[in-house]
Amino acid sequence: ALVEKGNYRHFMEKEIHDQPEGCQRTIAAYVDTLTGRTDISGGIDFAGLSRIQIVACGTSYIAGLMGKYLIEQFADLPVDVEIASEFRYRHPALRPDGLVVAMSQSGETADTLAALRYCQGKGMKSAAVVNATESTMAREVDVVWPIHCGPEIGVASTKAFTAQVAVLTALAIAAARARGKIDAAEEQRMVRLLLEAPRLVAESIKLEDAVRAVAQEVSKARDVLYLGRGPMYPLALEGALKLKEISYIHAEGYAAGELKHGPIALVDEQTPIVILAPFDSYFEKSASNMNEVMARGGQVVFITDADGERHAPSGARVVVTAPRCDPLVAPLVYAPPIQLLAYHVAVLKGADVDQPRNLAKSVTVE
Ligand code: G6P
Repeated sequence: ALVEKGNYRHFMEKEIHDQPEGCQRTIAAYVDTLTGRTDISGGIDFAGLSRIQIVACGTSYIAGLMGKYLIEQFADLPVDVEIASEFRYRHPALRPDGLVVAMSQSGETADTLAALRYCQGKGMKSAAVVNATESTMAREVDVVWPIHCGPEIGVASTKAFTAQVAVLTALAIAAARARGKIDAAEEQRMVRLLLEAPRLVAESIKLEDAVRAVAQEVSKARDVLYLGRGPMYPLALEGALKLKEISYIHAEGYAAGELKHGPIALVDEQTPIVILAPFDSYFEKSASNMNEVMARGGQVVFITDADGERHAPSGARVVVTAPRCDPLVAPLVYAPPIQLLAYHVAVLKGADVDQPRNLAKSVTVE
């Protein structure tokens, strides 16, 4: 089917705005709205698994890293996540009682496919979280978990990322239930939270005007740092990846706790530092990182919620106030602001947003 841009200037812009509907479809496929239970097909026995190995590249790798945070926290199931091009050549130690999960929008990325086959060769059961359900990966695995977000045209992945994270959130809940870490009532409570996520994602997209103002400043920068803790760490990586991919500004995502082990050396008056910090159990630590950065003249863009805004140290260059949400869905709710920031910086710089230089939508050769 021919996909049109409609009233949007770029596919990426359209795809960012598609996310509430996209992840609603995703979530609907993995929960039973009548019973409020998760509904994960494929007969994977989460209780019997020793571990999950996620393999992926690019943005799909970052979604996988988010999955590690979610699955380990809620289901107490060990998850390893690795960049497929490293994994496939380094002779990783694997046991047959694990599950390999290939994450891939296209289902065709050469390194991810090779990593998947390597695990299958070691006797592991396999699953693929893909958008393209007719893809090679989808054909070769035991279980396919489609992300259902519709075709993604922009080279820089946006709606596929949130859909991947939505699938992994549902998986984390299902695995937690199967492993006896939560009871049926808690499962229903978490499912209800997940079902509310699309509305919150829509709210978060409404931050676009605020983010466009930030983009004006960021577009003048040479380097940008993104910091976060817990699930906001993978999102910091994703923010930096998006910005460098489409605006060609050098950006780094860092675990905020690593600030003093390196990146703080880069901080000066010219460096915007985007700190992702919902008012959660990590907040105080992130706020103290904010102070460290500001003490060195760094220009902080603080992305938080209304509670975080009230408790944040003063002196941030800008505060972007995201909707209040449960930590379970914060990875989904905080994705649009960083995507929109990259998008608007790229537009301001006159870059070819949908076709960034040197990048391909899907890398099917090494
Ligand atoms: C390319 C794309 C990225 C994507 C990565 C992995 O580098 O430009 O947007 O995240 O491949 O692609 P996949 O289809 O495996 O998710």
